[in-house]
Amino acid sequence: MQRFVPVLRQDNVDPQLISLINTLMAACKEISFRLHQGELAGILGSTLDENIQGETQKKLDIISNQLIKDILLESGQVRAIASEEEDTIVAGSENGRYLVCFDPLDGSSNIDINSLVGTIFSIMEVPEGQTGATEEMFLQPGTAQVAAGYVLYGASTQLALTTGDGVRLFTLDNTIGEFLLTQERMSITQETAEFAINMSNQRFWEPAMQDYIADLLAGETGSRDKNFNMRWIAAMVGDVHRVLCRGGIFTYPTDNKNPNKPYKLRLMYEANPMSFLVEQAGGVSSTGYERIMEINPQEIHQRVAVILGSKNEVNTCLSYHK
Ligand code: F6P
Repeated sequence: MQRFVPVLRQDNVDPQLISLINTLMAACKEISFRLHQGELAGILGSTLDENIQGETQKKLDIISNQLIKDILLESGQVRAIASEEEDTIVAGSENGRYLVCFDPLDGSSNIDINSLVGTIFSIMEVPEGQTGATEEMFLQPGTAQVAAGYVLYGASTQLALTTGDGVRLFTLDNTIGEFLLTQERMSITQETAEFAINMSNQRFWEPAMQDYIADLLAGETGSRDKNFNMRWIAAMVGDVHRVLCRGGIFTYPTDNKNPNKPYKLRLMYEANPMSFLVEQAGGVSSTGYERIMEINPQEIHQRVAVILGSKNEVNTCLSYHK
């Protein structure tokens, strides 16, 4: 049942943090509106540029980044931002208490096929006593996040949000332009029979992942003694949403396809916020060898291997990595 709860009037959450999240949501509502205009808005397709990750930038990547960046920097609430679409951090207000990392439009290869995309964000506080705005300020482990979430632009637009006390799901009511609370506490089932991985990379994985997936594929005829189903949305935000809604394991593991790039997903604005949500919903998130949220980042665009989802299934996968 939907309830009108302005995104976040949550007891024991700092009002400044709530205000910051509401600011961010103003930009996400605008992105949602433009995405749903689709071809009519003339914003589909690519630019001629690449981002720092060497990926082709879509027009909507740029627009979404600009919308979020402008609103955050103008709010006075933010000391600095780090975005997938910005080479370096961008300074905000000297009095800003927060640092925001974001992927403005995750899964952007899905834009042109009218499929799932989303905005992922992670919020931390500026470390005590630090002035100015530096990249070092951002290099805190995921355990330092004070809030994280994503906005999924699907058939409806939804916000999954944690401030460290469970995960709440809101749905955007376009008639009033507000996110309404539609699920008080998301919880990931501990058991699952569903996995998500890009199978085309199979030959490039480590032996541990090869063995684990081989056992899932063997189903009832193998050691797992049960059949598994596979899903791949090619947008982490969509795959993680499914895991939060009905369980599953999602992984983008280490691979040796390109020796200079053994991992695909970004720590600060993909893996960390998703790990915070997953753990808050009772799931597990790991690289295969360590808890993602305990990694000490070396740089803002760092990449990492990700295995997350239903507790028992992720732990089974991790047992192959020992
Ligand atoms: O940010 C990278 C990303 O788009 C993720 O959202 C998604 O899980 C993955 O890449 C898809 O990768 P691939 O192109 O290998 O399917």
